[in-house]
Amino acid sequence: MNDKSIARAAAPILADQASYLIATAARAPSVHNTQPWRFRVGQSAIELYCDQHRKLRLDPIGREMLISCGAALFGLRLGMRSLGYLPVVELLPDPARLRLLARVTVGAAEPMTVLEREMLKAVPHRHTHRSAFAPAPLPAGLLAGLQHDALAEGASLHLVDRGIAYQRLADIVSMAGRRLDLDPRARAEMRRWSRSWASRARDGVPAHAFPAMADRRSGRQSGRLRQRDFDLSRGLGLLPTDGPGPTVTAVLLTPGDSRADWLRAGQALHRLLLHAASRWVFASLYTQPLEAAPIRAVIRDRLALPGAPQMLLQLGVAHTTHATARRPPDELIEP
Ligand SMILES: Cc1cc2nc3c(=O)[nH]c(=O)nc-3n(C[C@H](O)[C@H](O)[C@H](O)COP(=O)(O)O)c2cc1C
Repeated sequence: MNDKSIARAAAPILADQASYLIATAARAPSVHNTQPWRFRVGQSAIELYCDQHRKLRLDPIGREMLISCGAALFGLRLGMRSLGYLPVVELLPDPARLRLLARVTVGAAEPMTVLEREMLKAVPHRHTHRSAFAPAPLPAGLLAGLQHDALAEGASLHLVDRGIAYQRLADIVSMAGRRLDLDPRARAEMRRWSRSWASRARDGVPAHAFPAMADRRSGRQSGRLRQRDFDLSRGLGLLPTDGPGPTVTAVLLTPGDSRADWLRAGQALHRLLLHAASRWVFASLYTQPLEAAPIRAVIRDRLALPGAPQMLLQLGVAHTTHATARRPPDELIEP
């Protein structure tokens, strides 16, 4: 098939499968479940846009928004793979249109690999895990696979050993969390994006996904980093926290710190989270300390990281899952 015949074949695929592709993309993780993405389905391409109205005030440069959109881009690519085609992605295709983040066209036909099939199956049960993990090690070989995922997307997954490096990180994260939890702007934002059990909202972090009290076991000893406090002493959270901690702590890095790097970090994040979820391994995610530039610089410096830290993760085995809601595809269309 030449380029023209591929483009002709693409039009009905995109029109017929637009809802499926958008719904698959929209299962991506996003900061505070803001889902800051929009899609425009054209004759030969699906375009991904960011939705500035959903950007956090504590994310003025849009780093977390673009990581979230990058994660959605990986979901879109995986959806296209599941239709039997290779996606062709142009990142930031038009410098004059800042909101346009990617253009994805339908490439050559190629069946899914076994791993892609497993990742697709994991889309509905992948979730951000904030409660206890099972007392079990990660499956053999998985970490190397996740590191490969990150590299394949232009990022890297740097493992933090359990000794001094972890203690340094735990101390910085605790200190940053204590400070940011008192910041009135951060608290207002958290209230805006956290939901009580009675809420019917299809965005924001629901009560079943966070504990009523910030985990007091977090820190150096427990092996668990201090989590964001979504509850803010309101008694909304329904998640129990007691139990064993995670197995592995890691930092997702990119070589630079540009908008393209953030989009790559998001694609790497979603790819490795789906790969992990296909083996019932899930992650707690921590970005609170990375929201303050000086603390981000301290983390990079004290851990001697060979790149810009984009996400802190802790991975562990879990046997339960509870997905959070998403807005339906027709609410995500860019006019
Ligand atoms: C850029 C980014 C930053 C995030 N930061 C945090 C965080 O600091 N703490 C946390 O508990 N979850 C964090 N998350 C996870 C989101 O809250 C989660 O993806 C969202 O609520 C949707 O839930 P799900 O991942 O279970 O589908 C982050 C996710 C992304 C993509």
